[in-house]
Amino acid sequence: MEDKQMNYKLLSIILLALSLSACGNKEQHAEPAAVKADAATVYKNFCISCHGANLQGGEGPNIQKVGERLSEEEIILRIQKGGGGMPPFQVALKDEELKALATWLAGLK
Ligand code: HEC
Repeated sequence: MEDKQMNYKLLSIILLALSLSACGNKEQHAEPAAVKADAATVYKNFCISCHGANLQGGEGPNIQKVGERLSEEEIILRIQKGGGGMPPFQVALKDEELKALATWLAGLK
């Protein structure tokens, strides 16, 4: 009887250890994805409705070559503050999303 209880105890310890390590692994995998924002995805979620699937414009202007007109800093400010019919995204976007988006747009020339 005691042996059996011992076995159960052991088994539950092993199961606990397994589930803990599984959990740890999951977190490790989730982290880089959360930190590394994907500009195209952010664009799709927040900008596509006005600037179009190909950045060709619509309600907002064409920004296919916005890097020729605006620097990365100017683009960041533009996205943060909005203005002239564009809403501000300062609150909606995480810093790394904003940065990824601006770096990508500033490179379009
Ligand atoms: C509700 C519509 C709308 C949404 C959503 C929107 N914009 Fe705009 N955007 C505009 C309008 C309208 C302008 C032009 C404003 C003006 O004339 O000053 C503009 C201007 C810009 C400019 C300046 C272009 C230039 O040549 O000066 C950039 C860059 C820009 N938007 C990027 C973005 C990004 C990035 C997002 C997503 C985070 C976004 N916009 C979401 C409507 C929008």
